[in-house]
Amino acid sequence: MYDYIIGYDKNGAALGRCLAEHLRGKGIGVCDMGADDGTYYPLVAERVCKALKKSAVPARAILVCGTGLGMCIAANKIKGVYAAVCHDAYSAERAVLSNNANVFCFGARVIGDMAAKSLVDIILPLEFREGRSTPKLAEIYRIENENQ
Ligand code: RB5
Repeated sequence: MYDYIIGYDKNGAALGRCLAEHLRGKGIGVCDMGADDGTYYPLVAERVCKALKKSAVPARAILVCGTGLGMCIAANKIKGVYAAVCHDAYSAERAVLSNNANVFCFGARVIGDMAAKSLVDIILPLEFREGRSTPKLAEIYRIENENQ
């Protein structure tokens, strides 16, 4: 089981806190890195993803902004971070099983609390397994390494 680092901007604060509580209620370790003080979302994404990379325990991250998009774009600028917007069940499942994502992004202006909690519940037990996706992911890692 992974610990989860959660970050949000002002637009994502209520949903971010809701998801943090949801995870804590399941006994999952949560580090809430905010922020709802007007901090620009790329700075939150950077802070969370750097913490994710330094985590001493197996961890994933959840980022929440208005759309999920800005957080996702910013997070994916960091080497070793594979962020995906997960606004439907199939995408949430494939983000892990096909894409080996380690950061999951939600838009508080796009989906409600209950839907987001359901999507998190889909993600929680899933684990990437080597297989048909492996050579495709190898190309992503190659692109990442060749374009720093
Ligand atoms: C929304 O305007 C924006 O600031 C942020 O919350 C997020 O949606 C960015 O993609």
